[in-house]
Amino acid sequence: MIQAIITKPFADQDPGTSGLRKKVKIFETPHYTENFIQSIFDCTGKSKGKRLIVGGDGRFFNQQVIQKVLKIAAANGFASIMVGKGGILSTPAVSHLIQKYKAHGGIILSASHNPGGSDGDFGIKYNIASGGPAPEKVTKGIYACSQKIRCYRIANVGDIDLDRLGHQEIGGMKIEIVDPVRDYADLMEKLFDFQAIRQAIADGLRFRFDAMHAVSGPYAHEIFEKRLGFPTGTVIKGQPLPDFGNKNPDPNPVHAKDLIDLLMSDGGPDFGAASDGDGDRNLVIGKGIFITPSDSLAILAANAHLVKGYRAGVAGVARSMPTSTAIDRVAKKHRFFLYETPTGWKFFCNLLDMGLITLCGEESFGTGSSHVLEKDGLWAILMWLNILSITGKSALDIVRNHWREYGRNYYSRHDYEEVDTAAAKEMMKNLHDRLESLPGMEIGGFKIEKADEFVYHDPVDCSVSHNQGLRILFKNGSRIVFRLSGTGTQGATVRVYMERYEADPVLQEQNTQKALSTLISIADEIGNLKLYLNRNAPTVIT
Ligand code: G1P
Ligand code: ZN
Repeated sequence: MIQAIITKPFADQDPGTSGLRKKVKIFETPHYTENFIQSIFDCTGKSKGKRLIVGGDGRFFNQQVIQKVLKIAAANGFASIMVGKGGILSTPAVSHLIQKYKAHGGIILSASHNPGGSDGDFGIKYNIASGGPAPEKVTKGIYACSQKIRCYRIANVGDIDLDRLGHQEIGGMKIEIVDPVRDYADLMEKLFDFQAIRQAIADGLRFRFDAMHAVSGPYAHEIFEKRLGFPTGTVIKGQPLPDFGNKNPDPNPVHAKDLIDLLMSDGGPDFGAASDGDGDRNLVIGKGIFITPSDSLAILAANAHLVKGYRAGVAGVARSMPTSTAIDRVAKKHRFFLYETPTGWKFFCNLLDMGLITLCGEESFGTGSSHVLEKDGLWAILMWLNILSITGKSALDIVRNHWREYGRNYYSRHDYEEVDTAAAKEMMKNLHDRLESLPGMEIGGFKIEKADEFVYHDPVDCSVSHNQGLRILFKNGSRIVFRLSGTGTQGATVRVYMERYEADPVLQEQNTQKALSTLISIADEIGNLKLYLNRNAPTVIT
């Protein structure tokens, strides 16, 4: 019943910022997916007798890959596997289930916010026993195993019915099909004061959540509409679809434009939110105000003490290096320890796991806390709803008051997507080679104080991560950061991050791109972007 299938390595199975992410067509190549799954099991220690959690965001190929995982896991000796009904589990829900049921690890099938459908993207992420994404030493190990793989083991059995709740079996391995939502929704109810939110609803709080036809739909229906009592219809696009309704499940100003327009309109609700493909990102918008993820992180940290699950206090906070320094000002005032990590959630996990930080986030619409070791879209939205309910203030007032108190960090990211890989690498190398010569230089009235490559020393395991982005730091506190994306599937993506601090309340209501216009031209000049990338403008501005 168990077959050993002879195979050959695929050179490109090196996981990026967040798992192995490729076009569906590549995952469909014979043996490609099986090789990678076997490599995960080969490199992550004995599977015998252990429990695994499996689920995905419902995109095209999700269920087929779950069947492969089940059969390969059975052939590798796992004792049991917990699977979300219909193959559905959000990334934060997997993280929670791993912890709650003391699993050996979890496999999450998602390419996050990337497009779905048969021509879209697919991805496989592995999370370790802590519930967090595999750290670099594990992903490197998986890659090493994938490069010497000679065969994989698979149980030669029919498909499992993923829609039937309860127990099934492959050989000696138990399969438990579970409600993907229940445990996660219970956790949210422990962390937040649902009664306060119910009261705010009774007092007229109006909310709209766009699930983007991705994984968070079933979670949102249960939590927002059923448990909290927001009216039916509050959650839109709540049905997960293989192609996400032919749109990118990316909650940013481009793909969630309709929601943003609604919140900017006169008759719009008080608060709006969206989440991405696998439910770990969040977009939050107040009536009349777009809240940047960096500001959101800072505001949540400043108000965390108001929320039930965080009344005991905040141990520390962390942000990824390119994320704006708005949180730094909150940390300073509240005397929280502050950590600056490389891009990617996995770098927060040691800090969370050791209890060094309580809240953390990234500029890329990722925010989370120590409740699970993943960023968590619905958690961030509930945190906001809880703060709105408790303070009785509008989101606009909360943001404005925050700027008055701490100053405003104007912030924007410009992405140049699908550019020529060699040209992008050359651009980064050229800038890297000039870094030493930049300090002291003055451009457009901004004086460069420091320029370096960001290297991270993990304070918990003492590992060192090099090559984590190029930073240009100015004397007036402004910053420009250049990075190559580690999640793209076609060509290269260059990300340029710009930030400028404004303490004067009178100057805090400007348009972001205008407020950053000088820095934007400086970035162009220092990076020689037009010359190398052969583009006149970025593809996406957030
Ligand atoms: C992007 C984001 C990063 C996030 C990652 C996974 O990675 O920039 O913050 O952790 O997606 O969601 P990048 O493509 O920049 O490597
Ligand atoms: Zn995601």
